[in-house]
Amino acid sequence: MTFMTENSALLSPAAYVEAVTTAVAASAAYYGDGTTPLGDDEYDGLLRAIAAYEEAHPDEVLAESPTGKVAGGAAQGDVPHSVPMLSLDNVFDADELAEWAAGLERRLGRPVAAWCVEPKLDGLAIAARYRGGRLVQVLTRGDGLAGEDITHAADAVLGLPPVLTEPIDVELRGEVLLTTAQFEEANRIRLAHEATPFAHPRSGAAGTLRAKDRPYRIELTFFAYSAIGLDDLGHVALLERLAALGANTAASTAAAPMRCETVEQVQERIDVIAGLRTELPFGIDGVVVKADTAEDQRQAGNGSRAPRWAVARKLAAEHKVTRLLAVEWNVGRTGIIAPRAVLEPVVIDGVTVTYATLHNPSDITRRGLMIGDQVFVYRAGDVIPRVEAPLADQRTGAESPIVFPEACPRCGDAIDTSEQRWRCVRGRSCQAVASVIYAAGRDQLDIEGLGGTRAIQLVEAGLVKDIADLFTLTREQLLGLERMGETSTTNLLAAIETARGAALSRVFCALGVRGTGRTMSRRIAAHFGSMAAIRAADADTLAGVDGIGTEKARVIAAELLELAPLLDRLQAQQVGTQVTEPQKPAADASDGEDDSAGGPLAGQAVVVTGSMTGPLAVLSRNEMNELIERAGGKASSSVSKRTTLVVAGEKAGSKRTKAEELGIRILDPEEFAALVAGLLPTT
Ligand code: IVH
Repeated sequence: MTFMTENSALLSPAAYVEAVTTAVAASAAYYGDGTTPLGDDEYDGLLRAIAAYEEAHPDEVLAESPTGKVAGGAAQGDVPHSVPMLSLDNVFDADELAEWAAGLERRLGRPVAAWCVEPKLDGLAIAARYRGGRLVQVLTRGDGLAGEDITHAADAVLGLPPVLTEPIDVELRGEVLLTTAQFEEANRIRLAHEATPFAHPRSGAAGTLRAKDRPYRIELTFFAYSAIGLDDLGHVALLERLAALGANTAASTAAAPMRCETVEQVQERIDVIAGLRTELPFGIDGVVVKADTAEDQRQAGNGSRAPRWAVARKLAAEHKVTRLLAVEWNVGRTGIIAPRAVLEPVVIDGVTVTYATLHNPSDITRRGLMIGDQVFVYRAGDVIPRVEAPLADQRTGAESPIVFPEACPRCGDAIDTSEQRWRCVRGRSCQAVASVIYAAGRDQLDIEGLGGTRAIQLVEAGLVKDIADLFTLTREQLLGLERMGETSTTNLLAAIETARGAALSRVFCALGVRGTGRTMSRRIAAHFGSMAAIRAADADTLAGVDGIGTEKARVIAAELLELAPLLDRLQAQQVGTQVTEPQKPAADASDGEDDSAGGPLAGQAVVVTGSMTGPLAVLSRNEMNELIERAGGKASSSVSKRTTLVVAGEKAGSKRTKAEELGIRILDPEEFAALVAGLLPTT
């Protein structure tokens, strides 16, 4: 199947026929069981392409074409509506909206008296009939002329009162949807009943309204936006009346309907509602603009499909269809092994989504996902994007099963699969093994002889739970371990002893504080000068370090607090107590001239690229950067106008080229080694 993009044109009669077939099938599924083989944007794009083709080739228009029909011609029902339930025409940007408004004013022969701007709720239209103030029948929109009787579903719909505050005959119209919270609850319930979870809130609402005899109850929410049988009220006044009768309306939300005098004000309000979208507790797929007064509405009248006095300004969909490329397995602090979907990047509501959560392995199995599947991805606001469901009917046969890990991806030990959420059998100590291995690494404490196997052994024997425990290990304890002879023990203890005196930046790096790698650790150490000063820093102070933004500062401050007991123990062991002379704040250092930090690289911003040769060949990149900073310079990884010196080794590529372009001084490793000769490590 071909997906249409918004601008794609149908080039041949065959492509047109295929497009119509696809759209009719999608529409039938959508208004049938609520499933959606196409994302909203794809469906809208397809419809626009079909309409454009039909305009250019009027003799080829197929009878079953979805254009100009309510519900794309798909929905059927058997209870006639009192007054047709119309759809809305769409506009997709500010220009189209302005054009539409101008067209309406031309038709009226005068300006529209007032506009009303309100959210376009992403659910299903219903008509709720009241007699003497009592709810007697609820209908779906169906084909707009007749709908299906879904009265049985009414008592699960919040905001649709069984009895109004006045004993009147009236038909309320509005949208039924699952709020975000209701959607989540619905899927919890569905999974508990071994039912497939809903792909997204709207299909969940559609399925729930139609369902009979479900062994569980799923609550929905109603928002009224129109009525048959109330006085000639303007739209804003009508909404007030509906609320007074006891119905829920969007007036109860942050995106409340608002009267606007001019089209400019309308645009502004649209922007406000669009901006609120992510915070709203329910989905909207656009903003509806209506002529407010009853007189304007009456005079503009209705077309067969949509009123002429209202239009939907569509917003980009929060659901998109994309491909599931891979599944990654990440191990959390407590040993929980969580799957994460890697997606073909897709822009959802302005944000490029590449990863999405997949809850847990049994969830993957229940959803029947496969690598290569087209999947529905949902992202609303700050909610972490998630994969809802595969589009199984679009499989090509090239999909492959998702392979579940057989061993913990972090420490390699067994996985406890007895619960829904898989967990490394080591639980929290899986983290211990990983964090000990990290801390002992070359750029951290550089403890030779403390690799993977040894770390597992130490943790397993109960000798080491975190890195502070390394410094209390005794000769007897080590000798008691398998494959630990005298020599290895002596060497390991000596390496640990050396690490006790490691530079502050390395000890800090060894802690594995989130958001701090080697570079950031060196900056933090240089900025504060001692572990005590780092620990005394709050988020504001941390944000004063070059490269730490407010968000990262908060994370680091919180991590430090959490690490307090470990830091206390390290301090008691005299680890990381070495004091580094704090450098001058970056702002002063960069104005050059009288830099008091001293050293052969004082005031220089240095970038190292390519592989080092000569005396520098033994240094890791981190050690090179440490050297630069010892020499009074500032190390950075990318070349910019602020860079003053580039050390370019073998196979130096784009950074060297850029330095040449910018006319920055370039040294080869030997020249640089000569410059910092006195500061080279003596190993
Ligand atoms: S007014 C004659 N107002 O969007 C009045 N519709 O895509 C026609 N919808 O069929 C509807 N929010 O199901 C109106 N605030 C709102 C709406 C709204 C959502 C739905 C409704 C309509 C569909 C058209």
